[in-house]
Amino acid sequence: MADSYQPEASETLGRDSMTLTQHVLRQLDSFGPDAQDLSAIMNRIAFAAKLVSRRLTRAGLVEDALGFTGRKNVQGESVKKMDMYANDVFISVFQQSGLVCRLVSEEMDDIFHLTESCSTSRYTLLYDPIDGSSNVDINLNVGSIFALRCQQGDNTDQSGADLLTPGHQQLAAGYILYGPSTVFVYSLGKGVHSFTLDPSLGEFILASENIQIPQHGSNYSVNEGNFWQWEDPFRDYIRYMHRHEGYSSRYSGALVGDFHRILMQGGVFLYPGTIKQPQGKLRLLYESAPLAFLAAQAGGRAIVGDRQPVLDLQPDHIHMRTPLIIGSTEDVALVESFLQERSLEQPPIPASSSSV
Ligand code: AHG
Ligand code: MN
Ligand code: MN
Repeated sequence: MADSYQPEASETLGRDSMTLTQHVLRQLDSFGPDAQDLSAIMNRIAFAAKLVSRRLTRAGLVEDALGFTGRKNVQGESVKKMDMYANDVFISVFQQSGLVCRLVSEEMDDIFHLTESCSTSRYTLLYDPIDGSSNVDINLNVGSIFALRCQQGDNTDQSGADLLTPGHQQLAAGYILYGPSTVFVYSLGKGVHSFTLDPSLGEFILASENIQIPQHGSNYSVNEGNFWQWEDPFRDYIRYMHRHEGYSSRYSGALVGDFHRILMQGGVFLYPGTIKQPQGKLRLLYESAPLAFLAAQAGGRAIVGDRQPVLDLQPDHIHMRTPLIIGSTEDVALVESFLQERSLEQPPIPASSSSV
């Protein structure tokens, strides 16, 4: 009998054939109903990302796409039209899907229940629809950040108390970076993987698997305009950065872009508490915790100002803010050395960085 035909497509197509949907199923090593649900959820998030990406690339041409809505959100921040568009895109892609029961968004005061899905789904999607809004009207990179949790206990409990648990409870986390290309980065707790949107296919295609944050990188990323508002250890750390060779300051105003640089090249991002916002600016449930989940999966670290791991923090409400220090293990440790009781001798200098 002739040899059965061996498809060569997987070789010739190479990574072009590995879509996000297939990758999720491969990660879960299952085609069962739970795996199909998670794959479908990721696919819906990817669809939302394509809609947001399309809007962003045409925003300058579309009437009323840019600028402010005139509203303030629960954070007390002025809301941009793009914030609301992206927020509503995430709602619409999950409506009538049966996939997600609850949505928590930076742009919505309370938990949003997709009641038609709550009888079949126990998943909650927490998201920052547009991260880095200050960049959106000037065509600089912005992102979306998401975390997925599974509802604990009785899903008729509308209080959302089960969401106020440490970030270790997250099932999955990721972000989309809307830059020169649109990149989707996610983890199900089995490594961090990135996909690039191929507009000609309308698909996110696998770019890198099992991304690891270098143990040290030269970039430090912080808004030094807040220097006068920081506690002394952070000022001492920045003075150390200024006085030692081998460091570069990179800060884009969009957490997703600054984190992506660190994920790929190493370094550290900081948003310390300030006089005006002692708890910092970033929100735990849909900014710091998802990125901390990714950092941990990629061999990095994420702590808050008092050296406590972000993933151990117990939120007290869904929009809780925390300070954030996240990135390469050596670079986070250097910041940490300034937060500990300042010893008399100089803090340890990582072996891989030179000093003057
Ligand atoms: P968002 O646009 O979702 O409110 O997030 C903005 C955040 C974060 O993306 C960024 O790192 C930080 O705010 C920038 O804050 P400053 O302008 O105070 O530096
Ligand atoms: Mn944000
Ligand atoms: Mn936002």
